[in-house]
Amino acid sequence: MGSLWSVFVQGLSTIILLCCGVETTALERDYTRPGPGRIILTQHTDSSSFPQQVHVSAVGEYMRISWITDDQSMPSKVEYGKVPGKYDAVAEGESSRYLFYLYLSGKIHNVKIGPLEPDTVYYYRCSGVGDEFSFKTAPASLPVEFVIVGDLGQTEWTKSTLAHIGMSDYDMLLLPGDLSYADWHQPLWDSFGRMMQPYASTRPWMVTEGNHEIEALTFFGMKPFIAYNHRWPMPYEESGSDSNLYYSFNVASSVHVIMLGSYTDFESNSAQYKWLVADLAKVDRSVTPWLIVLFHAPWYNTNTAHQGEGESMRKAMEALLYKARVDVIFVGHVHAYERFTRIYNEAENSCGPVYITIGDGGNREGLALDFDANHKYANLSLFREASFGHGRLRVIDGKKAHWSWHRNDDSVATVRDEVWLESLSSSSACHDGTKLKDEL
Ligand SMILES: [Fe+2]
Repeated sequence: MGSLWSVFVQGLSTIILLCCGVETTALERDYTRPGPGRIILTQHTDSSSFPQQVHVSAVGEYMRISWITDDQSMPSKVEYGKVPGKYDAVAEGESSRYLFYLYLSGKIHNVKIGPLEPDTVYYYRCSGVGDEFSFKTAPASLPVEFVIVGDLGQTEWTKSTLAHIGMSDYDMLLLPGDLSYADWHQPLWDSFGRMMQPYASTRPWMVTEGNHEIEALTFFGMKPFIAYNHRWPMPYEESGSDSNLYYSFNVASSVHVIMLGSYTDFESNSAQYKWLVADLAKVDRSVTPWLIVLFHAPWYNTNTAHQGEGESMRKAMEALLYKARVDVIFVGHVHAYERFTRIYNEAENSCGPVYITIGDGGNREGLALDFDANHKYANLSLFREASFGHGRLRVIDGKKAHWSWHRNDDSVATVRDEVWLESLSSSSACHDGTKLKDEL
């Protein structure tokens, strides 16, 4: 049944792509990728009542626990506590399921638990049955360590990336889009959720959408992001956003993280743009010295893959982020690693953000191998390499952070690039909080 479904959906997808030009651009079609990586299908071998695909995401002082049961009668309930096997608190939440053409999802549970103490391990159990999980909350103050990785997929390469991520501790994972590469084939979302569970159930995973999350079937009246929005709800309402496709949150009282959407409206009259203006205006850099932004399609990119795809968003939003003195912008989409200098308006600018492409998580499409040595941004690019891996941003204090890129095509994760970053909030030449607020 699974293979028949796969053949049907892939055939349907091809017809739609050919007829209607959904999602795939001329640039993507022209790009010749290296051979695909082997997809790992992660099966569910327990009973239908057994919780699966468990992942957690931070919601202020709370944690949202998300999981799926095939059994529709299982309750949306989380028992939790600070001692293994001893649950002195319980919280109930909500559930949903969705229909995607012929596929009907399992029961998707979402429960917020808390308020929780910072930097504390909690043990929890979902739906009153199954395995015990645990996670650690982020610290209340710096230092804090982020893992950042995009374009994950579920291949042998993904497995290697995840293993390297798991080798050393971190507080929160940030993912700038392209999660499962299900591409309309919904069982792959389930397989992805199972593969991520050992990692995503133990630390908050905060994600934003990439092009592989769109999955629109407009011909059949199916809107974009159906699976993504059901399976990976993020704290958008808590940050005043009206969409799961863009939101923000604070970490360790000192880092404001903004997740933007490359595949929803971003022009100056859009809801996303207006929300971003309001969100930036609320950030007091004397209290929250670090401001980092993630989205999917890069604005600066010297790889031959995906050239120009982020250009309209750059033209719409770059000035706004520059005025806000964003420290670093992380993107994915290009399956390689690239770090730029500080940039504004296509030129080096000491008050602009550092741009980092980290779309090398391990997707099935392979690496984007070709960088253009003569690209107009080549002089702004400080390090670039087409290898799978992940990044780590360790924010030490209000001024300093350490960025490192860990390549994983070696048997052990190797630090191939690293740099110390200084927050623009500590630069008197770049930052005048009062004036910036007025400009926004
Ligand atoms: Fe992408």
